[in-house]
Amino acid sequence: METCTAIAIASPNIALIKYWGNADDRLRLPASPSISFNLAGLQTRTRVDWEDRLAADEVIINGEEVTGATRDRVVHHLNHIRRLSGHQGFARVDSSNNFPTGAGIASSASAFAALSLAATTALGLHLSERELSALARLGSGSAARSIPGGFVAWYTGATHEDSYAESFAPPDHWDLVDLIAVVSRAHKTTGSTAGHAIAATSPLQSARLATAQERFERCRAAILARDFAALAPVVELDSNVMHSVMMTGNPSLMYWEPATLAVMQQVRRWRDSEGLDVCFTIDAGPNVHCICTAASASVIEPRLRHLPGVLQIYRAVPGGPARLETA
Ligand code: DP6
Repeated sequence: METCTAIAIASPNIALIKYWGNADDRLRLPASPSISFNLAGLQTRTRVDWEDRLAADEVIINGEEVTGATRDRVVHHLNHIRRLSGHQGFARVDSSNNFPTGAGIASSASAFAALSLAATTALGLHLSERELSALARLGSGSAARSIPGGFVAWYTGATHEDSYAESFAPPDHWDLVDLIAVVSRAHKTTGSTAGHAIAATSPLQSARLATAQERFERCRAAILARDFAALAPVVELDSNVMHSVMMTGNPSLMYWEPATLAVMQQVRRWRDSEGLDVCFTIDAGPNVHCICTAASASVIEPRLRHLPGVLQIYRAVPGGPARLETA
């Protein structure tokens, strides 16, 4: 073996039912099941070259070689792949995103999905979608959901093999749109990995977990029935319950800015007073994902643009699975 190369492309995803807190931090086995769709058009492209002449792994992100914790996290993931394949050599990983890192769109999901697919393919391992999803999860929990396409469920699972994500409806099942209202480009103070470890310190996390399966079922049923009136309340509830856990943990995490709340309230008014199909969901940051039907999105997008505090809007529809780029 001299050089073995593969290139993979994966999208970030937006969770409609959230992952927050692990049953096992090392394996990233989540404490609750989650639901998401990939954000088509936003993508990470990762090239992996396993090269005999390398003395160590090299990691390049958006054109710059990285060191420290970011590199360590990639090397740790490559170690899983070395163990799986029996290959002893080192790799050059060259990864870039077509969306800005300061946009508040989690890049770890698309990054570890693309890395898992490219690195294993380059070594000639032909993993199933389920195996790839479980492998991607070891790098970043939500990366498990960026492997399959369409509307995706990630099951908690009691073991590494059982905790994977799979599609339950194709991307064109329902013409939903995610309008991402960017209200801050600042880097978040507490990342998700640290956040998951804090979740259990909130007195509300046990109540969240006791009711998580029910929200998961309601959300999946609403998607399967394309029932926006059923989807909106459960999506907002699940996001609010997660943020309640964040705010009441030790240390307390407060991701919202004043503009976050302004967008949330406006979304409620558009839905309650005008009957528009829109609801909000918010990850570990201040930006607001406004989930709409396509018909409502064309009305809401120009209005969102003009809301005070909204710096920029990204628009994405449900996307396909992680895929290889053929030369
Ligand atoms: C709030 O998957 O980013 O976006 O496993 O530590 O990489 P790590 O965490 P990550 O957590 C995602 C948290 C969330 C909710 C979600 O996407 O489900």
